[in-house]
Amino acid sequence: MSSPSPHFPQRAFSGVQPTGNLHLGNYLGAITRFVELQKTHECIYCVVDMHAITVPQDPDELTASIREVTAAFIAAGIDAEKHIVFNQSQVSEHAELAWVFNCVARLGWLNRMTQFKEKAGKDRENASVGLYAYPTLMAADILVYRATHVPVGEDQKQHLELSRDIAQKFNNDFGDSIRGHGFADGQFFPLPEPMITGPATRVMSLRDGTKKMSKSDPSDYSRINLTDDADTIAQKIRKAKTDPEPLPREEKGLEARPEADNLVGIYAALSDKTKADVLREYGGGQFSTFKNALVELCVTKLAPIASEMKRLVADPGHVDAILIDGADRARAIAAETMKKTKDIVGFVHKH
Ligand code: TYM
Repeated sequence: MSSPSPHFPQRAFSGVQPTGNLHLGNYLGAITRFVELQKTHECIYCVVDMHAITVPQDPDELTASIREVTAAFIAAGIDAEKHIVFNQSQVSEHAELAWVFNCVARLGWLNRMTQFKEKAGKDRENASVGLYAYPTLMAADILVYRATHVPVGEDQKQHLELSRDIAQKFNNDFGDSIRGHGFADGQFFPLPEPMITGPATRVMSLRDGTKKMSKSDPSDYSRINLTDDADTIAQKIRKAKTDPEPLPREEKGLEARPEADNLVGIYAALSDKTKADVLREYGGGQFSTFKNALVELCVTKLAPIASEMKRLVADPGHVDAILIDGADRARAIAAETMKKTKDIVGFVHKH
């Protein structure tokens, strides 16, 4: 993969949809990575409420979810003062740039998006236009900050490839104009790098090791929610599907054992170890012993986050103030990009 050109600062952007049931997959695949990147990058983390309404939302629940995701970010260790935390709809430049990208992206590209096919299901004619155009808004989210790095779980890979294609096509289509506006290398937008890292980039359902853990699974036993209490976590892990074999001693032994592989991956991610480390400790032993250790680890790691989230959402005024302050700082960056984009495209506007 090519690295972004040198005139772009190392800036990370990522988003989480406020659609309820924030779970262990979101935490391990995304939020823990966000926390980590704060050490090395300038970070912008967004509660993507405009993406949420691509499927119907109850307005009161949406408001509550926006605050809950924000609380999860803060509780997990994101520093909203040093970095930026905000909700997408407060920065209208996302929607503005998305329109330009709607005119850059090709229908054929969007037709290949598997997430649209999954979410629209059989009744495609009845899906919203927003659900179809979702990936162009996502490209705008990232590129309106000219972000270079995007920490996400495995399921977002295809969308990020599309974001890179859009950036590249914009740079090609408007190359002369871009150079004419002072970007000698013709690269106005960086090609953002997906960062899909760690042992839990795809956390699976606790009921079926071949299905992704997801907010929308009808069974609450399929996932561990960040708001679950200790008893609920224990119950869900004890009931998690496994196979009758003891745990293998080596990673190779996890092949074709999706449920065992998933639980070992969760343990590894939560304890900051590799799967091989975990198997050295628990391999050869019974599942029940390992599950007890996993319950203890999950509760130790997640209970403080749940209680901090509870404390934060009890004070919506405080959470909203964080989002408003973050949006003001985000807008300042986004407005600059949008002005230059208008120049490059040829729109008339106030300088
Ligand atoms: P969303 O809200 O579905 O999920 C938020 C983040 O959690 C990751 N994730 C998982 N990781 C591991 N295992 C799982 N089972 C699992 N489920 C979810 C997702 O990969 C994601 O990183 N389209 C995005 C939101 C978005 C975005 C963006 C992301 C909008 N604009 C710009 C990055 C950059 C989404 O629906 O994530």
